Amino acid sequence: MDNTALRVVFIAAEAAPFAKTGGLADVAGSLPNALRRLNVDIRVVLPGYRQVFEHGLPHEAVRTDLHAWLGSQRLDFQVRKLSIENAAPIYVIDREDMFDRPHLYGNADGDYYDNAERFIFFCRAVTALMQSWDFTPRLVHCNDWHTGLIPVYMQLDPAFRQCKTLFTVHNLGYSGLFTSDKFALTGLDASHYQPNGLEFYGRWSMLKAGLVYSRAVSTVSPTYAREIQTPEYGKALDGVLRSRQASVFGLLNGVNYELWSPETDSSIPAQYTPGDLSGKRICKADLIRACQLDESLMECPVIGIISRLDIQKGIDLIIPILSELIESLKVGLVILGTGNETLQQGLQRAGEPYAGRFAFIQRFDEELSRRILAGADMLLIPSRYEPCGLTQLYAMKYGTIPVVRATGGMNDTVSEVNEHTGKGTGFTFKHADSADCLTAIQKAVGVYRMPLVWRRIQSNGMSMDFSWEKAARNYLLLYRELTMESTN
Ligand code: ADP
Ligand code: GLC
Repeated sequence: MDNTALRVVFIAAEAAPFAKTGGLADVAGSLPNALRRLNVDIRVVLPGYRQVFEHGLPHEAVRTDLHAWLGSQRLDFQVRKLSIENAAPIYVIDREDMFDRPHLYGNADGDYYDNAERFIFFCRAVTALMQSWDFTPRLVHCNDWHTGLIPVYMQLDPAFRQCKTLFTVHNLGYSGLFTSDKFALTGLDASHYQPNGLEFYGRWSMLKAGLVYSRAVSTVSPTYAREIQTPEYGKALDGVLRSRQASVFGLLNGVNYELWSPETDSSIPAQYTPGDLSGKRICKADLIRACQLDESLMECPVIGIISRLDIQKGIDLIIPILSELIESLKVGLVILGTGNETLQQGLQRAGEPYAGRFAFIQRFDEELSRRILAGADMLLIPSRYEPCGLTQLYAMKYGTIPVVRATGGMNDTVSEVNEHTGKGTGFTFKHADSADCLTAIQKAVGVYRMPLVWRRIQSNGMSMDFSWEKAARNYLLLYRELTMESTN
């Protein structure tokens, strides 16, 4: 195999620990570094959000002379570089009126009104930055709709003729869909505004741009790669994806075990190892106290949920079965999540009669998410669809058994428990309905009451290896395959 360093640019709209709303940030914060350890010469580019600068890492302006066009408006911007030792360098596109805001994409009232402007600008600015470098990438790896125009601009520019593009879909449900009047801002001519291009049912989609114009498309699990080519999961883009079938790949996400392990996690009150789980009981007591739950729950199963509150995640499915869970099955429930207002109110109302056995914490709080991962017995993920899902992978590492709907990445990462053989890593259900969800939880509670089997299932999960080292190798293989193709 050719071992010369492959030059790659990795572009995303968020990356942990600088700016995070969901799993994309975890991926963008870890995958580039795992690739760097495999000798890939990789640079990361992010929007220069307020949150990135507030993070406190030293940064310096490396370019002050660049501009990008937004329609007929010339927008100057700076490029700042974050200094991080032994990590892929991070370049941020810095322009205050675009990115210096309290949130990444919007506030309680909805998305920012100018997200089209912000991310068209971002795509054009990244393209201008790459044109200005003497670092000529062999591959540009774009992620989700915010980066979808980059493959289009690259295809139109002969300077990138030798460079391949990979577009990774982390979630087909977010399509960067805008009205036709915003299209002129892209600077693309009208030939791109048609069904084989960016046009999408009377509007245009930045996600579709990425799907159509990149050399290859990947998504974050093999099952989701198949699902999105069907009408059920394809969000009306399944036809586009089927037409590119030979270039659609499903590569599973990984976990950064340096950040997500009960052996080293400093946010939890006691560390523990697969061989000695006594610390996990301390974590459970801590969680019960922190959430003001009844101490009697120490002897009952506590179920955790850590999730964006979005219809995707299926959290509404638990509302009709709440009394069954709490009164009949005697479980405790801790939910950490924010998002959809109606869902938030519905959950709060449903939980009111169950003080002491139900806690709903409505905020984004990474430290508490870790205390739930460590202190709960099970983590429930009833998603309607799930491209990969990371919390089930974290849960397994923390000896917390996932109860999941078998969809997308859940299907590829959680195997059904067989209580007779002690095999398996979690409990799965097939249909996105409350009855199926309840059946899986009933089975889980039954096995919880068999401590030896439960211990075995915990140990199965804790010994799984979903490390980025492994996952990054699959990306490297794909990068190599794409960059070895002839460019004609
Ligand atoms: P998605 O990207 O669809 O939200 P993932 O499971 O891939 O789903 O990733 C979600 C990430 O966001 C995980 O790191 C999870 O711990 C984190 N997360 C979600 N909601 C919260 C919250 N309210 N507080 C803290 N972390 C959260
Ligand atoms: C998305 C998906 C989630 C996935 C994450 C990272 O937000 O909803 O399933 O794990 O991206 O790829």
